Amino acid sequence: MGEAARNEGRRILVLNGPNLNLLGRREPDQYGHTTLKEIEEDLRTYADSRGAEIRFVQSNHEGELIDAIHKAMGWADAMIVNAAALTHSSIGLRDAIIAAAIPTVEVHLSNIYRREEFRHRSLIADVAAGQITGFGAFSYRLGIEAALHLLDTKGS
Ligand code: DQA
Repeated sequence: MGEAARNEGRRILVLNGPNLNLLGRREPDQYGHTTLKEIEEDLRTYADSRGAEIRFVQSNHEGELIDAIHKAMGWADAMIVNAAALTHSSIGLRDAIIAAAIPTVEVHLSNIYRREEFRHRSLIADVAAGQITGFGAFSYRLGIEAALHLLDTKGS
């Protein structure tokens, strides 16, 4: 079976928002020492072992993240979204997730409910299938697992 056929229905976009390019250096007590590149490499290997295809986008700009979601329409079967600070403020990103209608798993490295009150509100939570928060870099692995579960049980 060709690569394209093997991954049919299991294509995942992993979207990372502002400042996550600094992972590893940025507030390590909060976010750990793993870099985004290391997280992406781990996810690529993991997704491959699960017969899924994965793409990554990180941007510090709201519009670019929205564009990436639009581009994912017609390609992605699911999305893992860590919108970082935009989680708490971006109606535009929320609307893009609704418009794209791609099953979405919201992911955070830190437990947003154990932090400042302004982080307790997510504008994405109720338009996502679910939320994973507080497991550090491992949150992304759990995100992939959740996304594959959604795809595997779709329609059942
Ligand atoms: C974050 C939590 C957000 O509140 C924060 O603005 C981030 C990272 C997380 O992954 O824990 O930048 O999304």
